[in-house]
Amino acid sequence: MSNIFGVVGSGTMGAGIAQVAARAGFSVALQDVAEEFLARGMSAIDKSLQREVDKERLSGEEKRAVLARIKTTTDVADFSDAFIVVEAVTEELGVKTKVFRLLDEATKADAILASNTSSISITKLGALTRKPAQVIGMHFMNPVPVMKLVEIIRGAATTDETYEKTRALSEKLGKLPLECRDSPGFISNRVLMPMINEAIFALYEGVATRESIDGIMKLGMNHPMGPLTLADFIGLDVCLAIMNVLHDGFGDSKYRACPLLRRYVDAGWLGKKSGRGFYEYGKE
Ligand SMILES: NC(=O)c1ccc[n+]([C@@H]2O[C@H](COP(=O)([O-])OP(=O)(O)OC[C@H]3O[C@@H](n4cnc5c(N)ncnc54)[C@H](O)[C@@H]3O)[C@@H](O)[C@H]2O)c1
Repeated sequence: MSNIFGVVGSGTMGAGIAQVAARAGFSVALQDVAEEFLARGMSAIDKSLQREVDKERLSGEEKRAVLARIKTTTDVADFSDAFIVVEAVTEELGVKTKVFRLLDEATKADAILASNTSSISITKLGALTRKPAQVIGMHFMNPVPVMKLVEIIRGAATTDETYEKTRALSEKLGKLPLECRDSPGFISNRVLMPMINEAIFALYEGVATRESIDGIMKLGMNHPMGPLTLADFIGLDVCLAIMNVLHDGFGDSKYRACPLLRRYVDAGWLGKKSGRGFYEYGKE
Protein backbone atom coordinates (compact mmCIF):
# COMPACT_ATOMS: atom_id res chain seq x y z
CA MET A 1 0.00 0.00 0.00
CA SER A 2 1.23 3.46 -0.83
CA ASN A 3 1.90 5.72 2.08
CA ILE A 4 1.35 9.01 0.26
CA PHE A 5 -0.73 11.32 2.43
CA GLY A 6 -2.34 13.97 0.23
CA VAL A 7 -3.35 17.44 1.42
CA VAL A 8 -5.20 20.00 -0.76
CA GLY A 9 -4.83 23.67 0.19
CA SER A 10 -1.66 24.97 1.81
CA GLY A 11 -3.28 27.68 3.94
CA THR A 12 -3.51 27.82 7.73
CA MET A 13 -5.06 24.37 8.12
CA GLY A 14 -3.58 22.51 5.15
CA ALA A 15 -0.02 23.49 6.11
CA GLY A 16 -0.68 22.35 9.68
CA ILE A 17 -2.12 19.00 8.54
CA ALA A 18 0.83 18.43 6.16
CA GLN A 19 3.25 19.20 9.00
CA VAL A 20 1.60 16.78 11.43
CA ALA A 21 1.42 14.00 8.79
CA ALA A 22 5.09 14.42 7.81
CA ARG A 23 6.10 14.50 11.46
CA ALA A 24 4.26 11.19 11.95
CA GLY A 25 6.42 9.68 9.19
CA PHE A 26 4.14 9.89 6.13
CA SER A 27 5.30 11.05 2.70
CA VAL A 28 3.09 14.05 2.04
CA ALA A 29 1.92 15.55 -1.26
CA LEU A 30 0.74 19.12 -0.58
CA GLN A 31 -1.24 20.71 -3.43
CA ASP A 32 -2.48 24.26 -4.02
CA VAL A 33 -3.44 26.34 -7.06
CA ALA A 34 -0.22 28.38 -7.26
CA GLU A 35 3.44 28.12 -6.26
CA GLU A 36 3.23 31.28 -4.15
CA PHE A 37 0.60 29.68 -1.86
CA LEU A 38 2.70 26.54 -1.55
CA ALA A 39 5.77 28.63 -0.69
CA ARG A 40 3.78 30.47 2.00
CA GLY A 41 2.55 27.14 3.42
CA MET A 42 6.07 25.66 3.49
CA SER A 43 7.40 28.78 5.19
CA ALA A 44 4.71 28.45 7.89
CA ILE A 45 5.68 24.79 8.39
CA ASP A 46 9.37 25.70 8.58
CA LYS A 47 8.68 28.36 11.24
CA SER A 48 6.48 26.05 13.28
CA LEU A 49 9.11 23.27 13.23
CA GLN A 50 11.84 25.77 14.07
CA ARG A 51 9.93 26.72 17.24
CA GLU A 52 10.05 23.02 18.19
CA VAL A 53 13.80 22.96 17.53
CA ASP A 54 14.28 26.10 19.66
CA LYS A 55 12.39 24.43 22.50
CA GLU A 56 14.62 21.33 22.03
CA ARG A 57 11.65 19.10 21.28
CA LEU A 58 13.01 18.32 17.82
CA SER A 59 16.56 18.14 16.47
CA GLY A 60 17.71 20.14 13.44
CA GLU A 61 18.21 16.88 11.59
CA GLU A 62 14.67 15.69 12.38
CA LYS A 63 13.32 19.03 11.19
CA ARG A 64 15.12 18.64 7.85
CA ALA A 65 13.79 15.07 7.54
CA VAL A 66 10.19 16.21 8.21
CA LEU A 67 10.48 18.98 5.59
CA ALA A 68 12.00 16.53 3.10
CA ARG A 69 8.93 14.29 3.42
CA ILE A 70 6.66 17.07 2.08
CA LYS A 71 6.51 17.45 -1.70
CA THR A 72 4.60 20.43 -3.04
CA THR A 73 2.62 20.38 -6.28
CA THR A 74 0.01 22.31 -8.24
CA ASP A 75 -1.19 19.14 -9.98
CA VAL A 76 -3.84 16.82 -8.46
CA ALA A 77 -2.41 14.02 -10.63
CA ASP A 78 0.24 13.72 -7.91
CA PHE A 79 -2.45 12.17 -5.70
CA SER A 80 -2.70 9.11 -7.99
CA ASP A 81 -0.92 6.97 -5.40
CA ALA A 82 -2.37 8.51 -2.21
CA PHE A 83 -4.20 6.34 0.35
CA ILE A 84 -5.92 9.45 1.68
CA VAL A 85 -6.35 13.07 0.60
CA VAL A 86 -7.42 15.63 3.19
CA GLU A 87 -9.09 18.66 1.62
CA ALA A 88 -8.45 22.00 3.37
CA VAL A 89 -9.38 24.59 0.73
CA THR A 90 -11.44 27.76 1.12
CA GLU A 91 -14.78 27.23 2.90
CA GLU A 92 -17.03 27.73 -0.14
CA LEU A 93 -19.25 25.01 -1.54
CA GLY A 94 -18.39 25.99 -5.14
CA VAL A 95 -14.65 25.65 -4.50
CA LYS A 96 -15.02 22.37 -2.60
CA THR A 97 -17.34 20.98 -5.32
CA LYS A 98 -14.65 21.57 -7.94
CA VAL A 99 -11.95 20.06 -5.73
CA PHE A 100 -13.93 16.94 -4.81
CA ARG A 101 -14.74 16.23 -8.48
CA LEU A 102 -11.05 16.56 -9.34
CA LEU A 103 -9.97 14.40 -6.41
CA ASP A 104 -12.47 11.71 -7.35
CA GLU A 105 -10.88 11.48 -10.80
CA ALA A 106 -7.28 11.77 -9.61
CA THR A 107 -7.29 9.18 -6.79
CA LYS A 108 -7.32 5.38 -6.62
CA ALA A 109 -10.65 3.56 -6.22
CA ASP A 110 -9.93 2.72 -2.57
CA ALA A 111 -8.55 6.14 -1.49
CA ILE A 112 -10.24 7.99 1.37
CA LEU A 113 -11.31 11.57 0.64
CA ALA A 114 -11.50 13.56 3.88
CA SER A 115 -12.67 17.15 4.29
CA ASN A 116 -11.55 19.59 6.96
CA THR A 117 -14.70 21.69 6.39
CA SER A 118 -16.08 23.53 9.42
CA SER A 119 -19.67 23.54 8.23
CA ILE A 120 -20.35 22.03 4.81
CA SER A 121 -22.29 18.75 4.72
CA ILE A 122 -20.04 15.70 4.35
CA THR A 123 -22.99 13.84 2.79
CA LYS A 124 -23.21 16.56 0.11
CA LEU A 125 -19.46 16.36 -0.61
CA GLY A 126 -19.66 12.57 -0.77
CA ALA A 127 -22.51 12.70 -3.29
CA LEU A 128 -20.27 14.66 -5.68
CA THR A 129 -18.00 11.63 -6.02
CA ARG A 130 -18.19 8.03 -7.21
CA LYS A 131 -16.92 6.88 -3.81
CA PRO A 132 -19.25 8.43 -1.18
CA ALA A 133 -18.56 5.40 1.08
CA GLN A 134 -14.98 6.71 1.42
CA VAL A 135 -15.81 10.36 2.03
CA ILE A 136 -15.53 11.51 5.64
CA GLY A 137 -15.04 14.67 7.71
CA MET A 138 -11.69 15.11 9.46
CA HIS A 139 -12.15 18.40 11.29
CA PHE A 140 -8.78 19.46 12.69
CA MET A 141 -8.56 22.41 15.05
CA ASN A 142 -6.31 25.47 14.70
CA PRO A 143 -3.32 25.40 15.27
CA VAL A 144 -3.18 21.82 13.98
CA PRO A 145 0.22 20.86 15.47
CA VAL A 146 -0.95 21.93 18.93
CA MET A 147 -4.62 20.96 19.16
CA LYS A 148 -5.35 17.35 20.10
CA LEU A 149 -8.86 16.95 18.73
CA VAL A 150 -9.97 15.64 15.35
CA GLU A 151 -13.75 15.74 15.06
CA ILE A 152 -14.61 12.87 12.72
CA ILE A 153 -17.84 13.23 10.80
CA ARG A 154 -19.59 10.37 9.07
CA GLY A 155 -21.65 11.25 6.01
CA ALA A 156 -24.85 9.32 5.20
CA ALA A 157 -22.92 6.88 2.97
CA THR A 158 -19.62 6.67 4.94
CA THR A 159 -18.85 3.04 5.81
CA ASP A 160 -17.61 1.64 9.12
CA GLU A 161 -14.41 0.61 7.34
CA THR A 162 -13.70 4.20 6.24
CA TYR A 163 -14.47 5.44 9.73
CA GLU A 164 -12.16 2.84 11.35
CA LYS A 165 -9.27 3.67 9.00
CA THR A 166 -9.71 7.40 9.63
CA ARG A 167 -9.89 6.94 13.37
CA ALA A 168 -6.72 4.80 13.39
CA LEU A 169 -4.95 7.30 11.12
CA SER A 170 -5.88 10.22 13.43
CA GLU A 171 -4.29 8.33 16.32
CA LYS A 172 -1.14 7.74 14.25
CA LEU A 173 -1.00 11.52 13.81
CA GLY A 174 -0.96 11.83 17.61
CA LYS A 175 -4.54 13.16 17.75
CA LEU A 176 -7.60 12.22 19.73
CA PRO A 177 -10.45 11.42 17.33
CA LEU A 178 -14.05 11.91 18.48
CA GLU A 179 -16.94 10.94 16.28
CA CYS A 180 -20.22 12.55 15.32
CA ARG A 181 -22.84 12.25 12.60
CA ASP A 182 -23.21 14.69 9.75
CA SER A 183 -25.45 17.47 11.06
CA PRO A 184 -25.23 21.27 10.65
CA GLY A 185 -22.17 22.62 12.52
CA PHE A 186 -21.29 19.07 13.64
CA ILE A 187 -20.72 19.25 17.44
CA SER A 188 -17.92 21.81 17.72
CA ASN A 189 -19.58 24.72 15.92
CA ARG A 190 -23.13 23.80 16.91
CA VAL A 191 -22.19 24.35 20.54
CA LEU A 192 -19.50 27.04 20.18
CA MET A 193 -21.11 29.45 17.69
CA PRO A 194 -24.45 29.96 19.50
CA MET A 195 -22.42 30.79 22.63
CA ILE A 196 -20.41 33.39 20.71
CA ASN A 197 -23.61 34.72 19.09
CA GLU A 198 -25.27 35.01 22.52
CA ALA A 199 -22.27 36.96 23.83
CA ILE A 200 -22.69 39.34 20.86
CA PHE A 201 -26.42 39.70 21.66
CA ALA A 202 -25.50 40.58 25.27
CA LEU A 203 -23.13 43.28 23.99
CA TYR A 204 -25.77 44.50 21.48
CA GLU A 205 -28.38 44.81 24.24
CA GLY A 206 -25.95 46.66 26.50
CA VAL A 207 -26.10 44.00 29.20
CA ALA A 208 -22.34 44.34 29.80
CA THR A 209 -19.17 45.74 28.24
CA ARG A 210 -16.98 43.63 25.96
CA GLU A 211 -14.40 43.36 28.77
CA SER A 212 -17.02 42.21 31.27
CA ILE A 213 -18.53 39.62 28.93
CA ASP A 214 -15.12 38.18 28.05
CA GLY A 215 -13.85 38.39 31.65
CA ILE A 216 -16.90 36.62 33.08
CA MET A 217 -16.58 33.72 30.64
CA LYS A 218 -12.80 33.54 30.95
CA LEU A 219 -12.52 33.68 34.72
CA GLY A 220 -15.88 32.16 35.61
CA MET A 221 -15.92 29.26 33.17
CA ASN A 222 -12.17 28.76 32.91
CA HIS A 223 -12.25 29.36 29.15
CA PRO A 224 -8.81 30.28 27.77
CA MET A 225 -10.28 33.44 26.20
CA GLY A 226 -13.64 35.22 26.20
CA PRO A 227 -16.18 34.61 23.39
CA LEU A 228 -15.79 38.07 21.81
CA THR A 229 -12.01 37.71 21.65
CA LEU A 230 -12.44 34.21 20.26
CA ALA A 231 -14.85 35.53 17.60
CA ASP A 232 -12.23 38.13 16.58
CA PHE A 233 -9.63 35.37 16.27
CA ILE A 234 -11.89 33.06 14.24
CA GLY A 235 -13.02 35.94 11.97
CA LEU A 236 -16.46 37.55 12.23
CA ASP A 237 -17.27 36.64 8.61
CA VAL A 238 -16.57 32.98 9.42
CA CYS A 239 -18.77 33.21 12.56
CA LEU A 240 -21.61 34.75 10.53
CA ALA A 241 -21.30 32.11 7.79
CA ILE A 242 -21.50 29.30 10.36
CA MET A 243 -24.52 30.87 12.12
CA ASN A 244 -26.21 31.03 8.70
CA VAL A 245 -25.44 27.33 8.12
CA LEU A 246 -27.03 26.47 11.49
CA HIS A 247 -30.05 28.71 10.80
CA ASP A 248 -30.62 27.29 7.31
CA GLY A 249 -29.89 23.71 8.33
CA PHE A 250 -32.20 23.56 11.35
CA GLY A 251 -34.72 26.25 10.31
CA ASP A 252 -34.86 27.26 13.96
CA SER A 253 -34.86 30.96 14.94
CA LYS A 254 -32.67 30.21 17.95
CA TYR A 255 -29.74 30.15 15.50
CA ARG A 256 -30.41 33.61 13.98
CA ALA A 257 -27.23 35.68 13.75
CA CYS A 258 -27.15 38.77 15.96
CA PRO A 259 -27.72 41.99 13.94
CA LEU A 260 -24.56 43.45 15.52
CA LEU A 261 -22.51 40.58 14.02
CA ARG A 262 -24.04 41.31 10.59
CA ARG A 263 -23.32 45.03 10.97
CA TYR A 264 -19.65 44.41 11.83
CA VAL A 265 -19.22 42.10 8.85
CA ASP A 266 -20.91 44.67 6.57
CA ALA A 267 -18.47 47.30 7.88
CA GLY A 268 -15.50 45.04 7.10
CA TRP A 269 -14.66 44.71 10.79
CA LEU A 270 -13.81 41.04 10.58
CA GLY A 271 -11.69 40.69 13.72
CA LYS A 272 -7.96 40.29 14.15
CA LYS A 273 -7.27 39.71 10.44
CA SER A 274 -8.74 43.11 9.46
CA GLY A 275 -7.33 45.02 12.45
CA ARG A 276 -10.73 45.59 14.02
CA GLY A 277 -13.53 43.45 15.36
CA PHE A 278 -14.93 43.66 18.88
CA TYR A 279 -11.41 44.85 19.79
CA GLU A 280 -8.78 46.83 17.89
CA TYR A 281 -5.52 45.20 16.77
CA GLY A 282 -2.28 46.95 15.84
CA LYS A 283 -0.71 46.25 12.47
CA GLU A 284 1.75 43.34 12.73
N1 LIG B 1 -8.76 28.47 10.13
C1 LIG B 1 -9.37 27.75 11.07
O1 LIG B 1 -9.30 28.06 12.27
C2 LIG B 1 -10.13 26.49 10.70
C3 LIG B 1 -10.40 25.56 11.71
C4 LIG B 1 -11.05 24.36 11.36
C5 LIG B 1 -11.41 24.14 10.04
N2 LIG B 1 -11.16 25.08 9.09
C6 LIG B 1 -11.54 24.77 7.68
O2 LIG B 1 -10.37 24.42 6.97
C7 LIG B 1 -10.51 24.79 5.59
C8 LIG B 1 -9.34 25.68 5.19
O3 LIG B 1 -9.32 26.83 6.01
P1 LIG B 1 -8.02 27.74 6.19
O4 LIG B 1 -8.28 28.62 7.35
O5 LIG B 1 -6.79 26.90 6.13
O6 LIG B 1 -8.10 28.61 4.82
P2 LIG B 1 -6.95 29.43 4.11
O7 LIG B 1 -7.64 30.54 3.38
O8 LIG B 1 -5.84 29.76 5.05
O9 LIG B 1 -6.36 28.40 3.04
C9 LIG B 1 -7.10 27.88 1.96
C10 LIG B 1 -6.11 27.45 0.88
O10 LIG B 1 -6.84 26.74 -0.13
C11 LIG B 1 -6.27 27.08 -1.37
N3 LIG B 1 -7.22 26.80 -2.45
C12 LIG B 1 -8.32 27.50 -2.82
N4 LIG B 1 -8.93 26.90 -3.86
C13 LIG B 1 -8.19 25.80 -4.16
C14 LIG B 1 -8.30 24.80 -5.15
N5 LIG B 1 -9.29 24.80 -6.03
N6 LIG B 1 -7.36 23.82 -5.16
C15 LIG B 1 -6.35 23.79 -4.28
N7 LIG B 1 -6.19 24.73 -3.30
C16 LIG B 1 -7.10 25.72 -3.26
C17 LIG B 1 -5.95 28.57 -1.24
O11 LIG B 1 -5.01 28.98 -2.22
C18 LIG B 1 -5.39 28.63 0.18
O12 LIG B 1 -4.00 28.40 0.22
C19 LIG B 1 -11.88 25.44 5.48
O13 LIG B 1 -12.80 24.47 5.06
C20 LIG B 1 -12.17 25.89 6.90
O14 LIG B 1 -13.56 25.97 7.17
C21 LIG B 1 -10.50 26.24 9.38
